[in-house]
Amino acid sequence: MLTNGGHPVSAKSTAMNQNPNTSKTGTGVYTCVVGTNADLIAAAARIYLKQGDHVLDTTFGKGCYWKHIDLTQIYLVTNDLEAPADFHFDFRQMDIADATFNISVLDPPYLHDGKTVMVRHQYNNHIHTGSLNHEGIIRMYEAGVRECCRVTKPEGYIWIKCQDEIQSGQQNWSLQQIELVGNKLGLHKEDVFVLYNGSPHIQHHPQLHARRNHSYLIIFKKSNKRNKAEQFTDTLILEAAAEIQRRATA
Ligand SMILES: C[S@@+](CC[C@H](N)C(=O)[O-])C[C@H]1O[C@@H](n2cnc3c(N)ncnc32)[C@H](O)[C@@H]1O
Repeated sequence: MLTNGGHPVSAKSTAMNQNPNTSKTGTGVYTCVVGTNADLIAAAARIYLKQGDHVLDTTFGKGCYWKHIDLTQIYLVTNDLEAPADFHFDFRQMDIADATFNISVLDPPYLHDGKTVMVRHQYNNHIHTGSLNHEGIIRMYEAGVRECCRVTKPEGYIWIKCQDEIQSGQQNWSLQQIELVGNKLGLHKEDVFVLYNGSPHIQHHPQLHARRNHSYLIIFKKSNKRNKAEQFTDTLILEAAAEIQRRATA
């Protein structure tokens, strides 16, 4: 059953446009968005969300993503293990038929060791990721992207939110690693949006790397052809991820 869920999300304005290259102000859609997650999703929606689309938000949380979307124009189905939502599936294994949605959205806890970061309390991240290191986070993503891919229709889109992170003083390039996951699954990377969200809250001393004040939204497209996933093995993706890591720390 597809419903709008009746969740506390406002529908102040529509971010969907018939002509995706123009807005009310006449400007185009840019890769870099300054503002909130709602602004980020609104920017992506101007190109990738169509009236009548069936959308699954697998990690609905507080529903911030949908604040600038006119929910009367799409069929939004919400899921979250914890937060109030239509469903409470683990996004890695959802009891949803194959190829159901035009768009699947995944915004999991994206930093390892949720107990050290501010978002812990906001989203109870420590419950799900408190024991995970960075590799565990990427494995969680991999399972989530795979499941999103399954429930998304051919020619549909998978929107993935992520952020690079530092673990034990070393850079971990989540964006590249998740791109590899998409590649492994035969997904085509259509776009990457960057959200600039002001000053970071975390203050590590001494400072070894630039503090992150941006995150990403990757737009993958699912091909209608048989995908190339079979030619990638788990070993290959981990090796590729390790190679990225080696180069970063060389
Ligand atoms: C970063 S928050 C999502 C925020 C959301 N996009 C919003 O607009 O408020 C991550 C969410 O993922 C949920 N979550 C964590 N692990 C999950 C899992 N395995 N399956 C489903 N939901 C999960 C958490 O309960 C949390 O609400």
